[in-house]
Formats: sequence, structure tokens, C-alpha cells
Amino acid sequence: MAEKDNNQESHNYHIDIPVKNEPFALRGSNSLEWGMKNRLSKIFHPATGRTVMLAIDHGYFLGPTAGLERVDVTIVPLLPYADTLMCTRGILRSTIPPTFTQGVVLRASGGSSILKELSQEEIAVDIEDAIRLNVAALAVQVFVGAEFEARSIHNLTRLVDMGNRYGIPVLGVTAVGKEMVRDAKYMRLATRICAELGASYVKTYFVSEGFETVTSSCPVPIVIAGGKRLPELEALQMAHDAIQQGAAGVDMGRNIFQSGAPEAMIQAVRRVVHERMSPREAFDLYQALARQET
Ligand code: R5P
Repeated sequence: MAEKDNNQESHNYHIDIPVKNEPFALRGSNSLEWGMKNRLSKIFHPATGRTVMLAIDHGYFLGPTAGLERVDVTIVPLLPYADTLMCTRGILRSTIPPTFTQGVVLRASGGSSILKELSQEEIAVDIEDAIRLNVAALAVQVFVGAEFEARSIHNLTRLVDMGNRYGIPVLGVTAVGKEMVRDAKYMRLATRICAELGASYVKTYFVSEGFETVTSSCPVPIVIAGGKRLPELEALQMAHDAIQQGAAGVDMGRNIFQSGAPEAMIQAVRRVVHERMSPREAFDLYQALARQET
């Protein structure tokens, strides 16, 4: 009998199988603690390590910009296709169904409208409220080279300290002022500052020359903003080029919700980001899905 128990025990303990100790694959994140990694896994799809973030936070300084006048009508139908939603707590509480279970990246800075100097921001969310909202990350705008550069960087470092206390990652959003040159040199500077000061990942703009030097010199993942609306094929090309050059995804707003067919566009973007589909194939898919949408 004792012999039988021993056999059973050794079977249950699987002593012939080494205990798994898998590293966390997301760039620069292996030393983070479990809660942080779990939240980042709600942003970066574990199967690909990449993300399609749907950015709809523009109203925090722009008001009801085109495509976001009625978030309930235009954005809620897109949610099933987003790995993550980036929004303000006002829109989250008022309009986003709490049955949305993917990651929420909460806009956590604000203070100036489009009518004033945009770099004059403060932290605009209490960490307790972020926890109450069960967010996956906090997003803060960083204005490197702008009038209130130091204040915005200080907002980032304070949020990183708060986030670290509770296991909430911080997304550093590099804001490029009108007077700044959008080139790789500037993006390297701004993204690296965010990473050095503790951002878990960084959002920046794609630049057509030297973008791979931006991603390679940043020790944490980079996602690209979409920027102003482009023709769909160009937006898909930009997403594709960014992924090819080391971006871990997109945080795209206007090029999705201002597209001729937003539901079709977000599905095409997904294929580019997660499957590395070519821009041409993704555009063909967009057109086919758009015919059904309209
Ligand atoms: C801009 O203020 C917000 O941070 C947006 O989330 C960001 O610019 C991405 O949106 P878009 O793709 O429209 O540029």
C-alpha cells in the first residue's frame, strides 16, 4: 500500500518536469512585480506582445472633437476590437459599459484647453480613484522642450511613484509642441527621458527617418500615436512601418474614429499590428469591411 502511495505521490508532484520559471517577455518589464505585469498584459496582448490602443481622450483639452461628439454612438461599437481603451475618467464613468474587460489606460494629466498653453498641466486624477476604476495604466503628457517642461516631467515622476505603490504602470505620452521639430533626434530625447524617469511604456509619433533608433534606444515598449487623419492606406502604412521598426503597437485615435468606416479601420489596424499584414492587404480588408459597414 505504502509503495502505491509513493508512486501516486511522485506522479502528482511531476518530479520529472522542471518547475516553470518563464521570463516576462515585454521589453524592460521582467523585474516588475506581479500586479504590474498583470496590468501590462491587459494592454499588450500576451500572444504577440503588441497592442491596439484606441485613443479617445482628446476631449480633455479639445472638447467634442470630430468623431467624439457621441462616444456612445461612435466609439462603443469599436470596443470589441481594441486591446485597450485610452480615455478620461469622465467618459469612462459616463459612457463606457463596465462590461468592457480589456485594459483601460486612464488619462491622468490635464489642466489647459486648446485655447491656452497646453504644457501647463497638472496631475488630474487621484490614485485612489484610478484604483477604484480598476485601470490597467495611467497616462501622463510630457512636454519636453516646452514652456512647462519641468512641471510635466514632475507630473510623470509623481505618477510613477504613486503607480509603483499600487502596481499601476504609467504611460509617458510625448507631446510635441508646434515649435518643436518632429524628427528622430527629438523623439529619442523625449522617449528616453520618459523611460529613464520610470514610465513603463512610452507613446510617441512615428517619424519616417530613423524611427528604429527611437525604439532601439528606449528600454521600454514604444507605441505610436496616429496623429491627424490620413487617407486609410497611409495610416495603415504608418502603423506597419512603425511595427517593422520596433514599435510595440499603436495608440490610435483620429485615424480610426474619423475614418470613413471606423469599425473596418480598427479591424484592419489590428491585422497590421498583430499579424504584420501588409498595408495593401490590410487596406483591401478595410475596403471589403467598409462596404458591409456603410
Ligand atoms: C492626444 O492628445 C491624445 O493623447 C491622444 O490619445 C493621442 O494623440 C492619440 O490619438 P491620435 O491617434 O488621434 O493622435
